[in-house]
Amino acid sequence: MLIWGDLSDFSEFTGLSHAGFLPTEPTVVAQKLHRCDFAEIRQECVLTILLLLSRFSVSPIPFSIDCHSPDSMPNKTCSVTSDVKWAAEVLRSGGLVAFGTETVYGLGANALDEHAVARVFEAKNRPHFDPLIVHIASAEWLDRLAEQLSPLAKRLADAFWPGPLTMVLPKKPIVPDLVTSGLPSVAIRMPGHPLALELLEVVDLPIAAPSANLFGQISPTTAQHVLDQLGDRIDLILDAGPCGVGVESTVVLMTEERPRILRHGGVTQEQLEQVVGPVDVYCNEDNEEESGDISDPGHGNQVGAIAPGMLSQHYSPTTPLALVSNVTAELLTDQRVGLLRLSSRPNGSDTLTDFTMVETLTDDGDLRTAATSFFAALRRLDSSGLDLILAESFPEEGLGRALNDRLLRACHR
Ligand code: TXA
Ligand code: MG
Repeated sequence: MLIWGDLSDFSEFTGLSHAGFLPTEPTVVAQKLHRCDFAEIRQECVLTILLLLSRFSVSPIPFSIDCHSPDSMPNKTCSVTSDVKWAAEVLRSGGLVAFGTETVYGLGANALDEHAVARVFEAKNRPHFDPLIVHIASAEWLDRLAEQLSPLAKRLADAFWPGPLTMVLPKKPIVPDLVTSGLPSVAIRMPGHPLALELLEVVDLPIAAPSANLFGQISPTTAQHVLDQLGDRIDLILDAGPCGVGVESTVVLMTEERPRILRHGGVTQEQLEQVVGPVDVYCNEDNEEESGDISDPGHGNQVGAIAPGMLSQHYSPTTPLALVSNVTAELLTDQRVGLLRLSSRPNGSDTLTDFTMVETLTDDGDLRTAATSFFAALRRLDSSGLDLILAESFPEEGLGRALNDRLLRACHR
């Protein structure tokens, strides 16, 4: 196999010392790798894959291949509709309705009905420590769910609602603890998609809705994605077409002096800062400081955690995925390797013919266009029987931050 690219941090996950590890011959790599202890790596193809990676810039995240099997194929029993009144009726009677928003599809239930909310956690296999976003369409519901907005929160609401922004606000007692996982705050969003807004107006209830995928897996951006994964676990899907933004909302904590981004998403950091000035950005250490050990979130005390849902592993395809910074030329391998990338190389320098499958998200590198098709492209790669998916990292700006965040968590095992 011949691979060309830049090498960095390969030693992070191989355990090989970095010094002297810039082989010119693939056989040298193979000999060195044979001497390593890859306790976590179980697939036969791994040596080839590591050879393949050896000439790429590889992200410094720990890498292991640990395929978890998806749930058994569901029977597709739920209906798909565009009838908002039907969807509202199902929600009012305690049912689960997946509905399209501008970001991703959400799995909705009446946020004030604990039985319905419990069904959401069950349908997704979602752990109870991970709180849900409550979706609203009016200022009246905002007043009933959260304490009065701070001046900064008001500015953000005015600038970005309806739209892909979620604000974590001090909650009022009406919000069930189940929705907020016992936190004193509630995450609220007014979605921008007209059909989602219409649903919220017609139902006239706050709707708790996580993304409509099994916990930890790839987020859905079409009704078909939801049907494929949750079709036998929910009551109805309100089809709003493919999601226009394509990545989840930006989650911003508004309970501190300065807004803190907990999750990058559809509203970029740059856009937020234009409205409220500098914002803080959450990193995993923040959680550890607040709640102690987060390595076992199912058992630790999460009540003090500020971002209980920001797990290292998330958005995961079942196919092993590795992050690379720049694939510069071609390789030969008998493994089935797919590539996910922002755009093709200029001036015909693209020679990636030996990849089994290449998903190129844009013609021109526009990050908004890339976000729109990101999750769908990852799904296509994941369902193509590949041994490995390589994903090129995005520029760390604008929506690129949200996309890199999803990729990093998708690689993590
Ligand atoms: O675009 C979106 O935000 C989509 C659509 C359906 O609205 N929803 C979504 O929900 O992505 P979900 O559950 O997949 O992600 C919500 C994130 C989780 O990481 C959760 O931990 C966090 O928001 N969250 C919810 N309530 C919170 C709270 N009170 N404090 C801190 N984080 C919270
Ligand atoms: Mg989600």
